Amino acid sequence: MKPVKDKISRRVADTSPSGIRKFFEMVLGTPGVLSLGVGEPDFVTPKPFIDRAIRELGEGMTSYTSNYGLLELREAISDYTVNRLKGPRYDPKKEILVTIGVSEAVDICMRSILDPGDEVIMVDPCYVSYLPMVTMAGGVPKLVHSSIENGFKITPEDIESAITPKTKAIILGYPANPTGASFSRNELIAISEIADSKDIIVISDEIYCRLTYTGPHTVFSSLSGMKDRTIYLNGLSKAYAMTGWRVGYACGNAEIIEAMMKVHQYSIMCAPIMGQFAAIEALKNGWSEMERMVASYAMRRRLILDGIKKIGLKCHEPEGAFYVFPSIKETGLSSDEFCRRLLTEEKVVVVPGSAFGACGEGHIRLCYAASINTINSALKKIKEFLNRI
Ligand SMILES: Cc1ncc(COP(=O)(O)O)c(C=O)c1O
Repeated sequence: MKPVKDKISRRVADTSPSGIRKFFEMVLGTPGVLSLGVGEPDFVTPKPFIDRAIRELGEGMTSYTSNYGLLELREAISDYTVNRLKGPRYDPKKEILVTIGVSEAVDICMRSILDPGDEVIMVDPCYVSYLPMVTMAGGVPKLVHSSIENGFKITPEDIESAITPKTKAIILGYPANPTGASFSRNELIAISEIADSKDIIVISDEIYCRLTYTGPHTVFSSLSGMKDRTIYLNGLSKAYAMTGWRVGYACGNAEIIEAMMKVHQYSIMCAPIMGQFAAIEALKNGWSEMERMVASYAMRRRLILDGIKKIGLKCHEPEGAFYVFPSIKETGLSSDEFCRRLLTEEKVVVVPGSAFGACGEGHIRLCYAASINTINSALKKIKEFLNRI
């Protein structure tokens, strides 16, 4: 047999493993590490959501569900989108698909709309899965550069100049991982006008929509003429502290949702039934639990921003999510080297900005969904590290 590496598809072999994972693996099993690395709530899933899942399991609800997801959950998603998020009304029967987190939704969305060579515009730096999901689906990512100077935002002018005859879609993620950047309603309207005039699909990942601190969140598909053009992605992982339950959803034009359902049907079948029941409870009755957690993130956001300012690192004020993305350019170290040394010398985990794209170089991502003690101790150690190098 030829070497095994020759048996692996070029597409997969050419994709780098996630730069975030690499750091988690290094940390596993290292005692006494302070982590601001994982992008995950530090809350346990609220008890009423867990209880609902346990109750349903106890009553024998252990089967597959409809490929689209439980109808009760799709109805809850539809009502929640309109009543709580001021989004458009999606038909639970044909415009909503329940997925295994937004992760699966991004994947099947790309596989459903892209033909080989089709281009997808995205900002650099951005969430780690956007680029590989495009290339693995045979598409071509078109990166638009951003920086701390423009608040890490993609502008309508950037989009215009990235558009070619091959452009199929743009993926927006706001508030963003890793930068926390978000868009005002007017900024989104300007983007929607280009999408409309150039006839491109907008994939809008709004998983952090409840974690906003500086102004209201606008659901992209609620903008005039955008409902049919947008594939709206959201999920329970972040705002409802439900990462392990693996529930997300995609909403959009019935034909696109049907196409995504085909890929989902053959590769996944359905999201796990217990996660779907817990999600129903969260969306119907979990608003105050969610607000309690968001208030706590808002307080910790202030704490970490003040701490970073005191240390003397330049940092964009994030509008949402639970990350800060300060610059470490003045240290002269690459972000990878900075993070490795911070881990080995101070036992503090943060993620190198380069994991999110070339424009993330010179930055580090700190997740503040960690205890106040952990945040304070980690900041103290970062300060000691900076003083020493
Ligand atoms: C911007 C963004 N989108 C999607 C995801 C995936 O979330 P999940 O698959 O848990 O719904 C994440 C997780 O970190 C994220 O930050």
